[in-house]
Amino acid sequence: MRFATKALRVGQDLDPQFKSVIPPLYQSATFGWEDLDTQPPFDYTRCGNPNRNTLEQVIASLENGSRCVLFSSGMAAIVCALDLMQHGDHLLMAGDIYGGTFRVAEKHLPRHGIQVSEFCAHNPLSINDAVQPNTKMLIFETPTNPNLRVSDIAGVVKVAKQHGLTVVFDNTFASPALQNPLDHGVDIVAHSTTKYISGHSDVIGGALVTNDDALHEHAFEWNKAVGAVPSPFDCWLSLRGVKTLACRMEKHCKNAQAVAEFLEEHPRVARVHYPGLPTHPDHRVAQRQMRGFGGMLAFEVDGSAEQAKRVAESTKVFLLAESLGGVESLIGYPPVMSHATMTEEQRLGKGIPPTLLRASVGIEDSQDLIEDIDQALQSAFA
Ligand SMILES: Cc1ncc(COP(=O)(O)O)c(C=O)c1O
Repeated sequence: MRFATKALRVGQDLDPQFKSVIPPLYQSATFGWEDLDTQPPFDYTRCGNPNRNTLEQVIASLENGSRCVLFSSGMAAIVCALDLMQHGDHLLMAGDIYGGTFRVAEKHLPRHGIQVSEFCAHNPLSINDAVQPNTKMLIFETPTNPNLRVSDIAGVVKVAKQHGLTVVFDNTFASPALQNPLDHGVDIVAHSTTKYISGHSDVIGGALVTNDDALHEHAFEWNKAVGAVPSPFDCWLSLRGVKTLACRMEKHCKNAQAVAEFLEEHPRVARVHYPGLPTHPDHRVAQRQMRGFGGMLAFEVDGSAEQAKRVAESTKVFLLAESLGGVESLIGYPPVMSHATMTEEQRLGKGIPPTLLRASVGIEDSQDLIEDIDQALQSAFA
């Protein structure tokens, strides 16, 4: 089966009891036992649930992985992957990484005796200089947030593997519709399923996918112990969302390309960050590695921070809200939203000036999106 078909059919045969086309919702904390000699397939929802099981099968197959474990949030999934390390180990983290991952690495890992340092994912050879005798794991993501830089996944994996590192990759921004990092040798793919996989801004969830039985066992046991599990209803909603991932993603890519091309020509815009633009520094890598350029873009207003904020506050179709990957378009101002935990100095060091805005381009009519951003830019500069 191919991607779009797998999203609709893997693990989703007709319900054996009434032949319902949609899997029933098993909103039950516990399940009965026939007798004490036979353990039922599901006995307690923290350890497993039919709705979770179905969604795990679908996401594993979309990522070309053999196993998936679902979590109550993307951050719970990432923390579970990081928990493969122990006191005294060292983590190599890409400098350009999601703010929540940065927060865990900066504030929590050192309390557990785990050292962290950064490397540059655009220069895989930088791993050779950054690696230490106690380095166990490397974590990175591409396209990055908010600058949409694209690095060569296979190139990073190749150098990491020369040092025997476990490689974790956050595929939230691209989604499995646009790239499958396991095919490039990554050990564990992490997702915030909150975003493109669920796609409707109504669920918080996370996933880890792997082809390695031992890594799967770790994730499964960790979650059984910790209990950071998604509810059956959240899994049911995410399954409904994932069915349309392929066609949603096509429209996200088309709309984002149209908005990016419009912004690139706009007199009030200094710079557009979108890998689908031939002027983007990583356009060629993205062309080679991805099946589409995605729905995320960022742009720098050619004016002051105040004017950038006014643009964000003046859009009407783009909603001023955190998050990304839903069907509706969102706009965000990183210094007070997604990247608020960083200092201004840290943000500048990561190429996030106070004039930068980030947009998650939805599946509305692209002309409405273009007209909306145009009127917001005009009113901010009036
Ligand atoms: C790239 C990326 N990874 C992980 C997360 C965390 O996901 P969640 O909010 O579901 O915990 C986010 C959330 O914005 C994200 O953008």
